[in-house]
Amino acid sequence: MFLLTLLFYWVCFSLYFTLFHDAPFVPLKKSDVEKLVTLFAYPPNAIVYDLGSGNASNLIALTRRCGTRGVGIEKSSFLCFLSRWRIRRAGMDSQIRIHWGNFMKTDIHDANYVVCYLFPEIMQKLKQKFLRELRSGSIIISFSFPMRDLQLLRVEESPETKKKIFIYQIT
Ligand SMILES: C[S@@+](CC[C@H](N)C(=O)[O-])C[C@H]1O[C@@H](n2cnc3c(N)ncnc32)[C@H](O)[C@@H]1O
Repeated sequence: MFLLTLLFYWVCFSLYFTLFHDAPFVPLKKSDVEKLVTLFAYPPNAIVYDLGSGNASNLIALTRRCGTRGVGIEKSSFLCFLSRWRIRRAGMDSQIRIHWGNFMKTDIHDANYVVCYLFPEIMQKLKQKFLRELRSGSIIISFSFPMRDLQLLRVEESPETKKKIFIYQIT
């Protein structure tokens, strides 16, 4: 009983934390994930980071369809636990890692692609981090929100939800 109560408080606290601080957990729709997977001919073994990886759906779909390696950074311990469980169930333990923590404080220098579905203020803060840490040629894919003063490669639209997808490249 004690353990069940503890578990209940952990899930509530973790979800409260992700729902009411920074960008809340609102996963991309299936059709958006489908669009993400077809945006590039991702080379197998390319390293894709999802900043605020939620339940890891984006990384699982990319690894399944394109053979990429994934790194998710997520601040909610419950979502990290759920993601790791889903990744293990999909047999992708060796291809996808999930870090529990704040993406602002996590090194992302080895990313070839960075996926974000966050808020405009957060994207502006991340811009400095991208310029500091990412190598030339790395691609940033931002759902819904643009960043100022970064080289825009192209803008796409998700066909069903009409979400704009802003694609940048570090020069
Ligand atoms: C809008 S959801 C996107 C989830 C997933 N990337 C997707 O596209 O379906 C944003 C996620 O970012 C996480 N998040 C927000 N700020 C964060 C931070 N500073 N560090 C780590 N995760 C964060 C939230 O907990 C939430 O799961």
